[in-house]
Amino acid sequence: MIVLSNSEAWPGIQDTADMLDRGENGLDAIIYGIEKVEAEPKVRSVGFGGWPNLLGDMEFDGAVMDGDDLRTGAVGAVKDHFHVTRVARKVMEELNHEILVGEGATRFAYEMGFKCSSPLMEESKEVWFKKLQEITNEQNPDMSTRPLAKLNTLITDPEKVRDTTVFLTKDKNNSIYSATSTSGWAWKYPGRLGDSPIVGAGFYADSRFGAAACTHTGEMTIRANTSYSIVMAMRLGYSLHEAVDMAIAELKSLKGGFLAGVVIHAIDKDDNYRVVNVGCEEEIKYWVYKTGMERPQLCVAEKC
Ligand code: GLY
Repeated sequence: MIVLSNSEAWPGIQDTADMLDRGENGLDAIIYGIEKVEAEPKVRSVGFGGWPNLLGDMEFDGAVMDGDDLRTGAVGAVKDHFHVTRVARKVMEELNHEILVGEGATRFAYEMGFKCSSPLMEESKEVWFKKLQEITNEQNPDMSTRPLAKLNTLITDPEKVRDTTVFLTKDKNNSIYSATSTSGWAWKYPGRLGDSPIVGAGFYADSRFGAAACTHTGEMTIRANTSYSIVMAMRLGYSLHEAVDMAIAELKSLKGGFLAGVVIHAIDKDDNYRVVNVGCEEEIKYWVYKTGMERPQLCVAEKC
């Protein structure tokens, strides 16, 4: 048994570990942990504590993957509901689809009984508006009519708020699952999807081989199909270490577009794990918990 997640997982990692220790299903355990992260205002890149898009609207992305049957559920650009990982699970269980976005995803969440979680914190609203005042040099910028493309470039680059929470697990039945949740880039262009709801990019799981998930610059992992490429390499017989090295080489070979840091999290079916900080300037940490550990451990990621 193992659970691996990024540093933002602190509000939920212990609960996930406890559930796994009790022998509960891995997907139940990681969704329960992620809900704690989504509800924590101090986590500034996921759920209630996240930042809005250029129009001041929260838009959440999230996903789950069941490595036993390779079913996925994903939602993107969801307004009104920040428990998107649970909504994504409903997509997997209730629909003959794998991804819903925008209005359809929001409607589906209401249909499934999710309540509006009034997502934009007053403090976030003030910071959002101040930033727009600075960028536009106007006291009362009207974002609803203004072209946004240029502002998107100006604003997201210095902010660098592109994190996510990702959880990977192998439970007592050797079933492997992955799940993600994020509010995406701060001040993003409305409708932007990151990698968190894109199967193969931000997450992947296959109980025969392992799982991977990424945080930070989704624009890169979408192009390199990073999570799938790691699991595919293990399927082809490469070790976890080699598989992650190959994914890093692909990310480093990208040219043009928005290039910044990515953090890769990966496990294999034998409970080996690897977390690599590919190009983030700051120190990156992650949580790991395996059978025999007293409690989840916070560790520093390899840097390359
Ligand atoms: N990795 C999160 C995002 O790009 O939105």
